[in-house]
Amino acid sequence: EKGGYRHFMLKEIYEQPRAIADTLAGRIPDDQADVVLEGLGLSDAELQSFRKVFLVACGTSWHAALVGKFLIEKLARVPVEVDIASEFRYRDPIVDEGTLTILISQSGETADTLAALREAKGKQGKAVAICNVVDSSIARESDGVIYTHAGPEIGVASTKAFTTQLVAFILLALRLGRARKSLTDERLGSIIAALKTLPSKIQDTLAACEHMEEIARIYAQATDFLFLGRGNQYPIALEGALKLKEISYIHAEGYPAGEMKHGPIALIDDQLPVVVVATQNESFEKVFSNMEEVRARGGQVVVITDCADDGLKGKADVVLPIPSIADELMPVLTSIPLQLLAYHFAVLRGTDVDQPRNLAKSVTVE
Ligand code: F6R
Repeated sequence: EKGGYRHFMLKEIYEQPRAIADTLAGRIPDDQADVVLEGLGLSDAELQSFRKVFLVACGTSWHAALVGKFLIEKLARVPVEVDIASEFRYRDPIVDEGTLTILISQSGETADTLAALREAKGKQGKAVAICNVVDSSIARESDGVIYTHAGPEIGVASTKAFTTQLVAFILLALRLGRARKSLTDERLGSIIAALKTLPSKIQDTLAACEHMEEIARIYAQATDFLFLGRGNQYPIALEGALKLKEISYIHAEGYPAGEMKHGPIALIDDQLPVVVVATQNESFEKVFSNMEEVRARGGQVVVITDCADDGLKGKADVVLPIPSIADELMPVLTSIPLQLLAYHFAVLRGTDVDQPRNLAKSVTVE
């Protein structure tokens, strides 16, 4: 049942080209440059009417929401607020008929996220879900749903469920941007063209990570890790840190790289490996200088980048080059090396990768 893989988590990481092809199937038809979200249940007029969007989730799904904010604000130009479900549900959030609340949940059964959905609906807002499990409670109670179609995820640490959530957000942001006329035909066409190449780019990214176990060995004795990224890669830094904590029990923190100088920089010494996600967008140079600040203080830098420039080699202890794709889709690719890094650390430490201590696949108590 593990298909020859040592753990479900590894199998699920390698399933991502297929899982994402399934998320996309039937939603970007060849004959027309537009997105079809069959279960969304919202008309163009409704999509135009929203003045505010809330994205509400827990854990890894909350990280997907943080990426979702970038996508929706960029492509649909509507203000987005991201909240953790256990906070949103108890703070009397400002929701009205002009608010769209989007609940993100792999299982569709997370107690706090379900309560957040009821809270939003109780205030007359529209609420739709991004879910993996068909007919789950959150999917059933929402006004509409985008299924991620990742297939069953057995490993407790979410991998393919996360990257398919990112893809669902891209589709939703395109649909919203289209309805709100904030997206030109040209931009829509170019993102759709990039989406079509995504499964094969994921395959190439998996191939680019074949030496990840050796990288993990270099830092096998480390007790703490820092993960840094900016912009749409900042949530990926958070997710990289969460994956490492969950399955290897190594302490890790994710930070927006620009925040480093406001505190975490005090942690940096030659015992602290820092994983930097540096993709070629408008923040590349800034991330790069954050990396130099870490190096100047003796920190060990592992950089994950789509920049193929050899000049990078002398600037970091380990450079992991991955393929490049449209910036909106880069978070899908950068997630993969971080999943594999966490996986190999956990295997080296001999933890129970698929069933980490104290964690459950579906958190149905608050
Ligand atoms: C982390 C992880 C958890 C879940 C969280 C929400 O790998 O799996 O953080 O993301 O418990 O679960 P769902 O998405 O089912 O609501």
